[in-house]
Amino acid sequence: MIRPLLRTLHKPIYEHRQQVLVRLITPHLGPGSRVLDVGCGFGHLGEALMKAAPGVRVEGVESVRRGNELIPVTAYEGTRMPWPDHTFDAVILADVLHHDDDQLRLLREAARVSKNRVIIKDHLREGLLAQQRISLLDWAANAGYKVPCTYRYNDLREWRDMLGHVATEVVEERTSVDVYPVVFNQLLGRGLHYFSVFVRK
Ligand SMILES: C[S@@+](CC[C@H](N)C(=O)[O-])C[C@H]1O[C@@H](n2cnc3c(N)ncnc32)[C@H](O)[C@@H]1O
Repeated sequence: MIRPLLRTLHKPIYEHRQQVLVRLITPHLGPGSRVLDVGCGFGHLGEALMKAAPGVRVEGVESVRRGNELIPVTAYEGTRMPWPDHTFDAVILADVLHHDDDQLRLLREAARVSKNRVIIKDHLREGLLAQQRISLLDWAANAGYKVPCTYRYNDLREWRDMLGHVATEVVEERTSVDVYPVVFNQLLGRGLHYFSVFVRK
C-alpha cells in the first residue's frame, strides 16, 4: 500500500525534475546526436529529450530492465556495456551513480562509450544534515519502484576527485539545481543536487 502512495506523491515532483533536466541537458546535445541514457529506468527522460530536440536519438542501458520502456533499452549486467569505445556523442547518468556500488567504475565505463560529453545529475552531500536529507529524498523517490539505494553520496571534493580521473575539461558544473517545484526546493534544498558536463579523456 505504501508503494502506490509513494508513486502518486512522487509523480508531479518527477515531472518537474524532468522539465528542469531537459532544459539543462539539451544545450549539450548537438543536432542529430546519438545519446545513451545509462540507468534510464522507463525512459521518460530520453523520450522528453527527443521531443525537445528533434533529430536527437536517445537509447538506454539498464542493469534492471523495467519492460514497456519508452525508448529502446539494452539490458546488461551492470559492469561492461556492450558497445565499443566512442560509440555515442553524449552519455547521460541521471541519478544513477549513487545507486552503483562502484561509482568510478561506472563513470569510466560511461566515458569509454562516449565520443565526447558525459552529463551527470546526482546528489551533493553538502550542508546541514545533508546525508540524512538526501537519504530521505532518495528513499521516497525509489521505494515506490523497488530501486535499491546504497545511501552513499559524494561531497563536492569527492565529485571533483572522481571527475579528475575521466575528464579533460569540465564544461559546466552546478552545485545547486532547482529540481523540485518552488516550495519543495525550499524544504528539501536545491543545494543537495549536483549537475556537471565534462569532455572525456
Ligand atoms: C533513480 S533511478 C534513475 C532512473 C532514470 N535515470 C531517471 O532519471 O528517471 C536509478 C537507475 O539506475 C539503474 N542503475 C544502477 N546501477 C546501474 C548500472 N551499473 N548500469 C545501468 N543502470 C544502473 C537502476 O536500475 C535504476 O533504474
